[in-house]
Amino acid sequence: MGKVSILIYITVAVLILFLISYSPSKPSNHRHRRLKLRSNFTFSHQVRPHHDPVPFDPIVADLELRREDRHWERQHMEHAHPELLSPQPEWEDFADAEDYLNDEERFNVTDRLVVLFPRIDVEPADGFVTEHELTQWNLQQAEREVMHRTQREMDVHDKNKDGFVSFAEYEPPSWVLNADNTSFGYDMGWWKEEHFNASDADGDGLLNITEFNDFLHPADTKNPKLLQWLCKEELRERDTDKDGKVNFKEFFHGLFDMVRNYDEEGHNSSHQFDDSMEAPAKKLFAQLDKDGDGYLSDVELLPVIGKLHPSESYYAKQQADYIISQADADKDGRLTLAEMIDNPYVFYSAIFNDDEDEDDYEYHDEFR
Ligand SMILES: *[C@@H]1O[C@H](CO)[C@@H](O)[C@H](O)[C@H]1NC(C)=O
Ligand SMILES: *[C@@H]1O[C@H](CO)[C@@H](O)[C@H](O)[C@H]1NC(C)=O
Ligand SMILES: *[C@@H]1O[C@H](CO)[C@@H](O)[C@H](O)[C@H]1NC(C)=O
Ligand SMILES: *[C@@H]1O[C@H](CO)[C@@H](O)[C@H](O)[C@H]1NC(C)=O
Ligand SMILES: *[C@@H]1O[C@H](CO)[C@@H](O)[C@H](O)[C@H]1NC(C)=O
Ligand SMILES: *[C@@H]1O[C@H](CO)[C@@H](O)[C@H](O)[C@H]1NC(C)=O
Repeated sequence: MGKVSILIYITVAVLILFLISYSPSKPSNHRHRRLKLRSNFTFSHQVRPHHDPVPFDPIVADLELRREDRHWERQHMEHAHPELLSPQPEWEDFADAEDYLNDEERFNVTDRLVVLFPRIDVEPADGFVTEHELTQWNLQQAEREVMHRTQREMDVHDKNKDGFVSFAEYEPPSWVLNADNTSFGYDMGWWKEEHFNASDADGDGLLNITEFNDFLHPADTKNPKLLQWLCKEELRERDTDKDGKVNFKEFFHGLFDMVRNYDEEGHNSSHQFDDSMEAPAKKLFAQLDKDGDGYLSDVELLPVIGKLHPSESYYAKQQADYIISQADADKDGRLTLAEMIDNPYVFYSAIFNDDEDEDDYEYHDEFR
């Protein structure tokens, strides 16, 4: 080998090294994005203004819940036993957890998807995850989270530890009592005995965990008494002229828009009250007004109450639809494992760092 060819060889090698170290990261779905545990937690889940996406991965869900528990404990102690509180780092405790999620050797999203796929692809197990299967999966995750939070609340309220919450045991948190009554509107009714009684399905004066969970999440209940209470609350909120009924005007400016949004699943969420909307609104109003007296009563709201208060299933389906729209490369409406692996961060997008990912705002918009 001559000197020249060695020189060429070295030059090429240096050039390649240079290219490798300076090439910008590939702008593909695989580019590394830092996963972040969500830090927000509020006591006021009953007044939640928007619905957070549920973590796709149970490991992430567990980490988030543990962090939330810690946060919650701290708020509870601040309130109940300020004397016991030591200034303790709270977020720092979970820095390790976040590092874990972002350590590809320990938490490899490809491997996670491989493990989770057969747990989602069950109806039937045919190598495709359908919208229904993904919805069911999301729903399971959501229910697990909701029940965990309910259990936590129950532990606090069930003072005699008999596994039931009595009305006397249930005290609203101080922020509710201190709150300016008018700013809560509908939620002020939340704490009332009527709500408690409606949640008490078997009428024994005590709420077990199921009934207490319904109490906290009436939109997801199957208890007809509680659904009717929800309709009553809705009516009280909408009834601006306080005549105990909802007239067309009260229906059109508020309720109708919510029903319409639900039906359109937010695909077109321009909220416009032009004359063109009045005809369909009148039509729906007439359908709901069973006794034809020109007003809607609480029972007449029952057919649409699920649209006014969307359930976890609704959000689970929305989240499934979003994920499929993003990852379904061949547009056959379902996902293969390969499609999932090609778009791993779609599944973990609920825990993206918002600051770094402008393009994820669109996603969050869907879950308002
Ligand atoms: C977290 O909560 C704070 C106020 O408590 C709010 O300003 C912020 O926007 C919230 N962030 C997210 C990601 O929801
Ligand atoms: C993640 O796992 C896949 C499949 O097991 C493997 O090909 C890939 O190299 C792993 N990534 C890292 C960063 O370890
Ligand atoms: C809110 O209403 C309750 C009774 O309904 C009353 O006792 C309390 O003083 C009111 N609080 C405020 C801040 O107006
Ligand atoms: C709730 O039920 C109890 C009996 O279990 C009853 O004494 C009370 O009056 C009821 N309250 C309301 C507001 O319906
Ligand atoms: C709670 O009580 C209801 C009846 O009111 C019953 O259907 C449900 O199974 C009970 N839940 C548990 C966990 O025992
Ligand atoms: C959304 O609604 C507006 C009118 O409210 C209409 O002009 C527009 O075409 C709709 N867009 C879609 C995508 O349906």
